[in-house]
Amino acid sequence: MAYRVLLVERNRLMIEQLAQVIAQAGDNFQLVARYQAPSDALGQGVLFKPNLILLDIDGQNGVSLITEFCKVYPEASILCLSERWQADGVSQLVQAGAKGYLVKPFTAEELQAAVKAFAKSGMEVSSKVMTFFSPKGKSGKTSLIANLAMTLGRRTQEQVGVIDADLQFGDLAVFFSLKPQATIVEAAHDISFLSPVTLNNYFVPVSEYVHVLCGTAEPNLIDKVGIEELESIIRMARSLYRYILIDVPPGFNPTSIAASELSDMVYVVTMLNGGYELQHTRRALEIFKDWQDYEERVRTVFTRVTPCDMQEKQRLAQELGEPVAAIIPNAYQVVSEAADNGSMAMDLEPDSELARSINRLAEHIIGRHRIRWDQS
Ligand SMILES: Nc1ncnc2c1ncn2[C@@H]1O[C@H](COP(=O)(O)OP(=O)(O)OP(=O)(O)O)[C@@H](O)[C@H]1O
Ligand SMILES: [Mg+2]
Repeated sequence: MAYRVLLVERNRLMIEQLAQVIAQAGDNFQLVARYQAPSDALGQGVLFKPNLILLDIDGQNGVSLITEFCKVYPEASILCLSERWQADGVSQLVQAGAKGYLVKPFTAEELQAAVKAFAKSGMEVSSKVMTFFSPKGKSGKTSLIANLAMTLGRRTQEQVGVIDADLQFGDLAVFFSLKPQATIVEAAHDISFLSPVTLNNYFVPVSEYVHVLCGTAEPNLIDKVGIEELESIIRMARSLYRYILIDVPPGFNPTSIAASELSDMVYVVTMLNGGYELQHTRRALEIFKDWQDYEERVRTVFTRVTPCDMQEKQRLAQELGEPVAAIIPNAYQVVSEAADNGSMAMDLEPDSELARSINRLAEHIIGRHRIRWDQS
């Protein structure tokens, strides 16, 4: 598509700088007009028939500005420009009609990426963030996240982001056989200069739909990822992905609590090992009950369940005294085989009990989400 660009930017030096960037972005970007004052752009700009508007929103009421531009330029796509990413206001900007957001000054590649991103999906306002929490380690949650993410991507053909926030011993990179150049450490370091488009570069694509922000390469790098930065990453990722799955360290700690607080849904995952797992789950659920919306936001999942059938699910629910959302069968062999050769257990045996149980959970997630999406 050929873009006829209208640039609205208060700062004259910045106008010059951005005009050069637009010129470098290739033949399909033509800067047709530039204005310092939005009122001029709304008046005279119409003559140039722009179909892409780069609109500076700093120091102004972004929402009413976008609303006005949408009225005057109903056919054009609007990308907001700002010196900093402001997570709080983004959903209002998108609702007002903005298609994306760039932090100034941006590069030609970032402009191209922003345009490509909105051509694909637009900015997501209704993404679903899910944290997978385990009372103790070795719950099977990382295996579950990896398989579930692939399933969600395949079934919905929508963008899925996975964040490895198991900050010391995250192993999603191993699950997906990735050797990432950038990880959550670099993303946290750079976050205040990023916009969703640029944050996307820190995620490694593992399929057309699934992208992974890998964990730290060394346990001591945990100090490099502050809670505030992690929160910013999660908030910003909402503008990129329809589904976000977060892996966190076991137990209640600042990381798992922060991720859970920002999530639409928390899955409490426990592997049955013939010990005190049910008690641990119950005690973890007790803590989540502090949330007023606990019933809507917290789900229980057991892994390594044998036999993996309805009766066993009901039995577990009864013993726990809480509903059980999903049970995953004992699939040690296929899960470890898959991990060893970098494939997904689901793919090794697509008709297996494991694949069926993960598909069911995916359906549950998609179903609920669709309903919420339709209502909004
Ligand atoms: N459904 C399952 N049935 C049997 N074994 C499983 C299942 N899921 C995972 N495992 C095995 O359990 C171990 C832990 O799995 P995984 O790494 O997914 O759990 P985790 O909760 O993320 O662990 P950690 O606390 O180390 O992060 C692995 O050896 C894995 O192969
Ligand atoms: Mg894990």
